Amino acid sequence: MRWLIVGHGKITANFIEAARGTGHEIVAVAGRNSERASTFANKNGIDKSGEDLLFLSEGVDAAYIATPHSEHCNGATTLLEKGVPVLCEKPLAVNHRQVEKMVNAAKESNTFLMEAMWTRHLPIYEEVIDWIKKGLIGEPKLVDASLGFDSPYDPESRLWDPKLAGGSLLDVGIYPLTLADLIYETTPENVFSLAELSPDGVDAHIAITLQYQNSALATLGSAINLSLPNGASILGESGSIEIPYFWCAQKAFTTKGSEKRETVRPHEINGFEYQIREVDRCLSEGLTQSPKVSWECSLSMIQLMDSIRSEIGVSYPADDEEHDGI
Ligand SMILES: NC(=O)c1ccc[n+]([C@@H]2O[C@H](COP(=O)([O-])OP(=O)(O)OC[C@H]3O[C@@H](n4cnc5c(N)ncnc54)[C@H](OP(=O)(O)O)[C@@H]3O)[C@@H](O)[C@H]2O)c1
Repeated sequence: MRWLIVGHGKITANFIEAARGTGHEIVAVAGRNSERASTFANKNGIDKSGEDLLFLSEGVDAAYIATPHSEHCNGATTLLEKGVPVLCEKPLAVNHRQVEKMVNAAKESNTFLMEAMWTRHLPIYEEVIDWIKKGLIGEPKLVDASLGFDSPYDPESRLWDPKLAGGSLLDVGIYPLTLADLIYETTPENVFSLAELSPDGVDAHIAITLQYQNSALATLGSAINLSLPNGASILGESGSIEIPYFWCAQKAFTTKGSEKRETVRPHEINGFEYQIREVDRCLSEGLTQSPKVSWECSLSMIQLMDSIRSEIGVSYPADDEEHDGI
């Protein structure tokens, strides 16, 4: 496939490595500033660069959007309305209203759209979900997971700035929430959360408890001001599963009584290759959404994050429709 990448920040290096490593081409890069985009293009051997998304999307098979969260909706809808398939970084957008707008644009133009929640495509999860379905650990009763790192407070950075939809929940809290969703495959019945807010009112650290059917629980955490344990445990009625670095996992440990087993599924490249292959598969089969990260899945995840934000009192300029395009 021939890809346009939109945004040329830190994460694009992973995408480029995995795309090229699986035989895809990066043919264009779009940025806010032509000079910066051109420097990036030259460094990375990309032919076309600039600011005009529509011009740059001529002749591409799909676009990968990797701008800050606040810019996803605008970039994606512009491309979808023109019929350009989109793989858009997580979270798909800042709030439910924006995600709905993107999904409607995809529906109306009959064009592919998928959130780049790469964790859902990792091979180790095929194993973990299979073990759970086969009853290896009995009924899961607790998912305990956290993802947090200590990043210096910088009010203008993507992580901390409310205008860019900063805070830990949308940036990294989405990973433990995704794990709970992968295991329980349903929306929680009760949601409780508490957070430490930054001076600008984004969540620096959050603790979330979710309650599912049959009183199964998820205790989840995320932070941008603290290094958290960064692992996951799934405890069932008759065994447990440990997943180190669960968002990019390559191994899992199962324990049942005194028996402990390690299963390893190493990434072929860096883990992004699986979602890239999924886009390729969906497009070649004429699908507009992937069953692995469906529109419904992204809509329900953002609805949950909207309700958590409302509980902890975090709102963004982008929650106001007038601020859709900053
Ligand atoms: N899947 C993963 O593992 C993973 C990991 C990290 C991040 N992400 C996601 O990828 C996206 C980008 O993250 P990143 O860490 O790569 O970000 P980053 O390093 O801050 O880069 C952001 C890019 O967006 C451009 N941009 C466009 N509009 C902007 C604006 N209004 N303000 C600031 N920059 C703007 C910047 O270019 P100019 O400044 O030149 O315009 C830059 O190229 C986020 O949505 C994040 O959640 C995913």
